[in-house]
Amino acid sequence: MLSTSFPHPKIQNLLSNLVLASKTMPSSFHFLILILCSILYLISPSKAKPLSKPKALVVPVIKDSNQYVTQLDQRTPLVPIKLTLDLGGRYLWVHCDADGYVSSTYKPIHCGSPQCSLANATSCRDCFDGPESPGCHNNTCRLLPENTIILRTMVTGEVSQDIVTIQSTNGHNPSKVVTLPKFLFSCATFSTMLEGLADGVKGMAGLGRSNISLPFQFSSAFAFPNKFAICLSRSTTSNGVVFFGASPYVLLPGIDVSKKLIHTPLFINPKTTASSSQKEEPSSEYFIGVSSIKINGATVPLNNSLLTINSTGFGGTKITTANPYTVLEHTIYNNFVKVFEKQVGNVTKVAPISPFGLCYNSKSFGSTRVGPGVPPIDLVLQKKSVFWRIFGANSMVQVNNDVLCLGFLKGRTDFTPQTSIVIGAHQLEDNLLQFDLVKSRLGFSSSLLFRQTTCGNFNFTSIA
Ligand SMILES: *[C@@H]1O[C@H](CO)[C@@H](O)[C@H](O)[C@H]1NC(C)=O
Ligand SMILES: *[C@@H]1O[C@H](CO)[C@@H](O)[C@H](O)[C@H]1NC(C)=O
Ligand SMILES: *[C@@H]1O[C@H](CO)[C@@H](O)[C@H](O)[C@H]1NC(C)=O
Ligand SMILES: *[C@@H]1O[C@H](CO)[C@@H](O)[C@H](O)[C@H]1NC(C)=O
Ligand SMILES: *[C@@H]1O[C@H](CO)[C@@H](O)[C@H](O)[C@H]1NC(C)=O
Ligand SMILES: *[C@@H]1O[C@H](CO)[C@@H](O)[C@H](O)[C@H]1NC(C)=O
Ligand SMILES: *[C@@H]1O[C@H](CO)[C@@H](O)[C@H](O)[C@H]1NC(C)=O
Repeated sequence: MLSTSFPHPKIQNLLSNLVLASKTMPSSFHFLILILCSILYLISPSKAKPLSKPKALVVPVIKDSNQYVTQLDQRTPLVPIKLTLDLGGRYLWVHCDADGYVSSTYKPIHCGSPQCSLANATSCRDCFDGPESPGCHNNTCRLLPENTIILRTMVTGEVSQDIVTIQSTNGHNPSKVVTLPKFLFSCATFSTMLEGLADGVKGMAGLGRSNISLPFQFSSAFAFPNKFAICLSRSTTSNGVVFFGASPYVLLPGIDVSKKLIHTPLFINPKTTASSSQKEEPSSEYFIGVSSIKINGATVPLNNSLLTINSTGFGGTKITTANPYTVLEHTIYNNFVKVFEKQVGNVTKVAPISPFGLCYNSKSFGSTRVGPGVPPIDLVLQKKSVFWRIFGANSMVQVNNDVLCLGFLKGRTDFTPQTSIVIGAHQLEDNLLQFDLVKSRLGFSSSLLFRQTTCGNFNFTSIA
């Protein structure tokens, strides 16, 4: 009876002392202690405590038109808003217009307010485009929303706040819905900003390094550590998942995929990688330190200076959800393909199908648990023993029934790309990636297919 768990630690201490004492005391004391316990329990201050804050949040992500689309509930009354996930994006931006954005809790952020500095806003503007409406107010600070799928930016987007709700999680299922009454985002008033985004999508959800990205706002609102994990499903019918906050991250049948992660440092590129920017600011994207590439153990010859970020922000390796496939700087690509072909051996190639540069008859390869049986590709990281191994399911793309192509693309040859290796979404699917911004490191699982699960296996049945 004394082992009943009491929420308040002080009372718990007191109780365990009493229990110890009772062992050596006559049984009449037991009754006294029981009474005392009951009284303590009744007056325990924990009874008055507010509901505990969530330790983690969860959203579903569905693959649509080679994008990864998530959903948040926003505004008053609440409306579900579809958003394309943007791993390196600075913040949430949505298309706002007088008819489309209806909310009694919308608030424009006026110049000089703390929210403008938190957002590191680029400018302060009036609005001459029409009557006051979401996205069009005088004396508001502005950001430069970017559609990273088609690399389009707009003139400016008003910094705004509104209610957002999201499901909390215990790591196994979604549970009760929690509310952020003052979620900061940017309003893009031109509908051309939505071009290239999947059907019904109203903006982009930025998970990047910034003080107002989704992970940052969620972790500061609920005081949990600033980490999040993405698990993109290759399927267009079963949801992948993004977890905000600490593990466990459990996928059916009951596998905590936060266990056995391999860790590598995250780097900050000192120069922005946005397609256009009004300011000199560090990049909000996630960079890792690839030190060499091996295929079947054979090293791809490459110019090592391409692998480090130089002081003007060129070089290095970043991870993105905006590109469907990994893009390699063209000299890296050429050697990569040569080594891959050599390691594949005597297998008949077929005419490449755009955008891919190397394709085979799919019947040439056996199938394994981790996809077509092709030589594994290793991205070697901070030391030889730490590498991200990419198997057939993530290296090859089944273009049609007969043709299987190497899912890596050649970078442009007419100019030096800012980033030498841009790891794209196909290479991330069915891998769990945890971005830990407290420890500034990436934890990755490699293919979950080895562990007999997929990113489509989170149990979205709510237990709220
Ligand atoms: C903003 O102020 C200007 C005058 O400075 C005015 O012409 C314009 O109508 C105002 N816009 C809004 C949306 O109130
Ligand atoms: C905003 O971000 C910068 C750089 O990451 C950091 O130094 C600063 O403390 C942040 N501001 C707040 C209010 O968290
Ligand atoms: C904010 O912008 C300034 C330039 O205006 C830049 O120096 C600074 O690094 C930026 N801060 C962050 C956290 O991006
Ligand atoms: C390696 O790349 C750097 C940066 O692009 C370039 O300056 C250098 O000439 C290259 N070296 C060789 C041997 O190609
Ligand atoms: C960084 O690399 C780019 C591309 O190779 C080059 O144009 C630039 O000059 C380099 N910057 C420095 C400071 O070396
Ligand atoms: C490659 O395979 C083809 C068909 O299996 C065979 O005829 C040819 O001799 C092989 N070439 C080499 C170099 O092994
Ligand atoms: C998903 O979770 C719900 C609620 O806990 C549970 O009833 C159900 O059995 C779970 N589904 C599977 C396939 O385990």
